[in-house]
Amino acid sequence: MQGCRGCELYEEATQAVFGQGRKAAELMLVGEQPGDKEDLAGEPFVGPAGRLLDRALEEAGIDRSAAYVTNAVKHFKWKPRGKRRLHQTPRAGEIEACRPWLAAEVEAVKPQAVLAMGATAARSLFGTKVRVTKDRGRQLESPLAPVAAVTIHPSAILRLREHDEREAEFAGFVADLEGVANALQGAAG
Ligand code: URA
Repeated sequence: MQGCRGCELYEEATQAVFGQGRKAAELMLVGEQPGDKEDLAGEPFVGPAGRLLDRALEEAGIDRSAAYVTNAVKHFKWKPRGKRRLHQTPRAGEIEACRPWLAAEVEAVKPQAVLAMGATAARSLFGTKVRVTKDRGRQLESPLAPVAAVTIHPSAILRLREHDEREAEFAGFVADLEGVANALQGAAG
């Protein structure tokens, strides 16, 4: 994957960031793309969004080390703002170019549940008909796994300025994670 030239994002990224987790994981969590910290570390969800995800998983009773965590797009897309590297949302063509890598991960892990976090992951996994706001909190039909769902991206919570709003969105995110964990138990039982 480090030699991938499927789109131009490799040019400005430090490295491609692949998914991480157990090969036998039942749950696959899919984010958008590596952020600044992930681009440097070479691991998904290790920055601020990752810390929020960890906290939400813990509240939902999900063991991150038992899951497989990855992104729809494997290179960090950014533009300079002073000394900072500002996140840029990947274009449809970049999501498409990266989809074979995500498909290969799904094929290798064969998860019982896939959860798309945010619009980019939702688009890559389920296509353009699935919308985060309309479809979160319900079970989707997907050939990828018996349990399939969408929720918001943890960064969307971090961006909220009002404390109460942030707490409410966090609680909703945890509820979506719990919904997937429960559906997973149902599918297994
Ligand atoms: N945001 C993502 O979507 N993925 C990461 O790995 C980090 C931040």
